[in-house]
Parts: sequence; structure tokens; C-alpha cells
Amino acid sequence: MSKEAPMTRTTSVDISNRKGGLPIVSLTAYHAHTAAIADKYVDFLLVGDSLGMVMHGYETTVPVPLELMMMHGRAVTRGARRALVVVDMPFGSYEESPPVAFRNAARVLKETECGAIKLEGGRRMAETIRYLVERGIPVMAHIGLTPQAINTLGGFRARGRTEEEWAALEEDARAVTDAGAFAVVLEAIAEPLAARITRAVAIPTIGIGASAACDGQILVMEDMLGLSPRVPRFVKEFGRIGMAIDSAIADYAAAVRDRAFPAAEHTYAMKSAAVPPTAPVSQPAARKR
Ligand code: KIV
Repeated sequence: MSKEAPMTRTTSVDISNRKGGLPIVSLTAYHAHTAAIADKYVDFLLVGDSLGMVMHGYETTVPVPLELMMMHGRAVTRGARRALVVVDMPFGSYEESPPVAFRNAARVLKETECGAIKLEGGRRMAETIRYLVERGIPVMAHIGLTPQAINTLGGFRARGRTEEEWAALEEDARAVTDAGAFAVVLEAIAEPLAARITRAVAIPTIGIGASAACDGQILVMEDMLGLSPRVPRFVKEFGRIGMAIDSAIADYAAAVRDRAFPAAEHTYAMKSAAVPPTAPVSQPAARKR
């Protein structure tokens, strides 16, 4: 038997128990290697449907299919060993009815081995959240700016910047809490309202463009690394990876054009010292590996 310590992954219950405690750290992740790096520092990783825009060049998250979410979900659960992995339910995979949501969410859990799913919507999704949670599917809710509703919202605008909008958003937060969500993402919600919702509900609030008073924070990894061409104003770029990639590729292109790459150390020498001056014409050169 292996002597290795068993892998203990963070669960949705662990996250839920962090309400009011040490801030919860989270990021999106879409592939195995970045998930493995982030796993050391975060409490949960979200395979967000923003991958449609960040990785696949869609204008919005609306076209993202369930299969794509599951493919990236599998990559992230293979890369991360410790953090809870949450997979976003894409538009069209859960809104129709609680049973449809259950069927698709159960596939996500079984086929990706993630520990929870996330879906967008407040009061309108409360019945579905309750249905899923009662049947064993941990749900993270998402209110405020819900990008899958872009076509009815009419734009990526922050919410709650006038007091008339506050009551509805607070009701959304209470409804998903009462329905059994283990945490709720507050996206692009005016700071005082996000702080107020955090005080009002019993589950952790995870802010993105919300408030430092939230129980945790999330950012899209590519945005905070400086890899996205356009970022919302709530993003702080903690890295300049886009510029580093640009300059590395420029250096590579110049080295190839100058025949400076590959250098001797990047090629394979013959094993014997005696190298024939030219290869015999009739024999094709052996393929290097
Ligand atoms: O899809 C996503 O990346 C998200 C985060 C913005 C919370 O839902």
C-alpha cells in the first residue's frame, strides 16, 4: 500500500464554514498546469464560463457549450489536488427546469470530479438551487452582474449604484441563501451594497468588483495576470504576462530569422566523433527525436 498521505480536498462545506473568517481566496482556472500552480494559494478554483471569452474568442459567455465546460473541468481537477474545484453551468444547461438542471449538473460532477457547480441568478433560480442541493449537488450562486443574461440586461453594467436597485439584489442574496447555496458570488455590485449583503446573509459572499468586506474574492486568472486584451475596471493586474509573452515571441522570431536559434546546445550531435562531410545522397537523413 502507498505510504503517501491521502489527498484532502477542500469541500463546499469547508468553504461555507469560512463565513466571517479568514478571507477566501479564489481564481478561475481553465487548464491543468495553471490550476496546479494556483492550487498552492487558493481555497477554490472556478472553471468559469468566462473561458468562452478568455480562451475561445467568443464575444459573450452565451455560446459556451456544456461539453467545453466539462473538458476544461477535467483538466482543472487533474491539475489541482487541494482546492475545491467549482464548474460553471453554461447558459441553457439549467434554466429550463430543476430536473434538466439536475441531469446536467450531475453529469458535470460525475464526469469532471469537481466538488460543486455554480449557476447564475437570484430569486428566479432559488427553486432550482433547492432542488439540486436536496439531491446532493453543492451550488454556488452568482448575483449582481450575471453575464449570461447580457441579452436581456443590455450590457455589462455594475448593479446597485442607485438605492432603488438595492432591495431586489438583497432579496436575491437572501433567496439563494435560503435555498441552500453554500456561497454566493457578488459580481459588479456597488461597494456599500456588497458590504451590506455580506452582513445580511449567513453564507460566504465572494466578491468580484464588489467590496473588500466580502468573505472572499475571485478574479479571472488571465485578467489578473495581464493576459487579457480588455479588462473591467475592477481588475487589478498583478502580473504582466501578456507583455512577457509578446517579448519572448518577438525574441524567438528574431533568433529564427538570424539563424541564432537553434544553437549547438539545442541540437543533437552525432554519437561518434567522425562525422561524414556530407550525407550520402541516396540515404534520407534519420529523424531526430
Ligand atoms: O465565469 C466566470 O469567470 C465567473 C467569475 C467572473 C465569477 O463567473
